[in-house]
Amino acid sequence: MAQPELGDEILRLDNLNVHFPVKMPFVQRLLQREKAVVHAVDGVSFSIHSGEILGLVGESGCGKTTVGKASVRLLNPTSGRIFFAGQDISKIGGRSLRTLRRKMQIIFQDPHASLNPAMAIGRAIGHPLWIHGSEFGIQNLSSTVFRERVQQRVLSTMREVGLTPEEQLYDKFPGDLSGGQKQRAVIARALILEPDLLVVDEGVSMLDMSIRAKVLELMLDLKRQHGLTYLFITHDLATAKFICDRLAIMYLGRIVEIGPARDIYADPKHPYTKALLQVVPIPDPDKRKEKVLPRGEVPDAVHPPAGCRFHPRCPAVLPSCGWEGRDFVDFLDEHLSDPKRAGDDELVLGPIENWRTNGLVASLEAKPLNIEEAVERVKAVLAEAPIAMAQAIESVSTHKRTVIIHFRPPNELRQTQVGDRIVECLLYQ
Ligand SMILES: Nc1ncnc2c1ncn2[C@@H]1O[C@H](COP(=O)(O)OP(=O)(O)OP(=O)(O)O)[C@@H](O)[C@H]1O
Ligand code: SF4
Ligand SMILES: [Mg+2]
Repeated sequence: MAQPELGDEILRLDNLNVHFPVKMPFVQRLLQREKAVVHAVDGVSFSIHSGEILGLVGESGCGKTTVGKASVRLLNPTSGRIFFAGQDISKIGGRSLRTLRRKMQIIFQDPHASLNPAMAIGRAIGHPLWIHGSEFGIQNLSSTVFRERVQQRVLSTMREVGLTPEEQLYDKFPGDLSGGQKQRAVIARALILEPDLLVVDEGVSMLDMSIRAKVLELMLDLKRQHGLTYLFITHDLATAKFICDRLAIMYLGRIVEIGPARDIYADPKHPYTKALLQVVPIPDPDKRKEKVLPRGEVPDAVHPPAGCRFHPRCPAVLPSCGWEGRDFVDFLDEHLSDPKRAGDDELVLGPIENWRTNGLVASLEAKPLNIEEAVERVKAVLAEAPIAMAQAIESVSTHKRTVIIHFRPPNELRQTQVGDRIVECLLYQ
């Protein structure tokens, strides 16, 4: 099937970085040499064309909302550039930003929290028109003509999003509406200014399955009728499959794979995408796969892993993917906490807090007389470690009473064109 023709570029992120300062006590801040930051978004680039739905997918905390908010400038980028319809909007503020807001709207997960419980639905939907009234050439916002125009616009938008009977619902409060109706009201409020881009952040995640499908259908209808463009953020690949033209798979602040949704579902390339697809629940019980995500927690975004950020969890990991001192210490910690495997290793290599790490190096000041013993034990532990990790080690050496494990530097990771998509993984370089 031929790809639909793409329109003009609506949104482009060019090496976007958004870092947040880590809140910490004053004394700790003084002692810390470098300022600790959360690397929420780290070098993200993509573009969305008019009429397209780009899905941004990834586990909790990978930076999806931060990308969404920065795209509509609810957050300032730390560096990198954001273009909207060809205009660099990375640094604009004041009136220019306000005008722009009409053109780009964002919808969040919880419709209840997005609506003021004390404001009737009709008023809430029309509210953006009051705020932007002067931009519609209306000077006197209290004029009866304007009021009537707003009401007519609100009623027709309510009809369009299926909030009917609209005359009756107009004066209802959010508390009187179901979850699905509330999300329709939020969509109506976002549409009333006729935006070009809608960022939908987990917009249907809180809805029941049956209502979810209807709201997704509505979004597709609205796209067709209004030529809308969506950045559709979700942690749920099943929802993304239903609605998205292209997918961007995000892991710990980076896009690891981006391309046509159909192709990614049929043949995921990046090991993380493969793992995510394995956990998508399949409705047919005979075909249900075991729900497994790669071992381990998502690492913290303050100290992202070296090399490929997915390497500590990657089932296909290579020796050159980014192994570093703390990976050995994490593995040793796991080893020592299993008495069956560890035997009396703790006496020689423990406690784990005595280990020091610095980038590619892990070291331990051995207890007196135990230096050779410590080296032997380290080698024995490494014999059980993932092969790629063991092969990444350049040397296990000693200096006075310190055992030093040195890893080889990782290979440089580049975004690589693989067929119709871009993948960031050494397997394809
Ligand atoms: N204002 C903030 N200050 C400090 N850290 C933040 C802030 N906002 C987000 N973060 C951190 O940035 C990272 C990315 O967060 P973000 O909310 O963008 O993730 P997400 O992919 O949307 O997650 P979820 O699926 O849970 O909504 C997380 O580590 C989060 O804790
Ligand atoms: S570069 Fe590829 S193979 Fe290596 S850890 Fe990352 S995803 Fe896995
Ligand atoms: Mg989020």
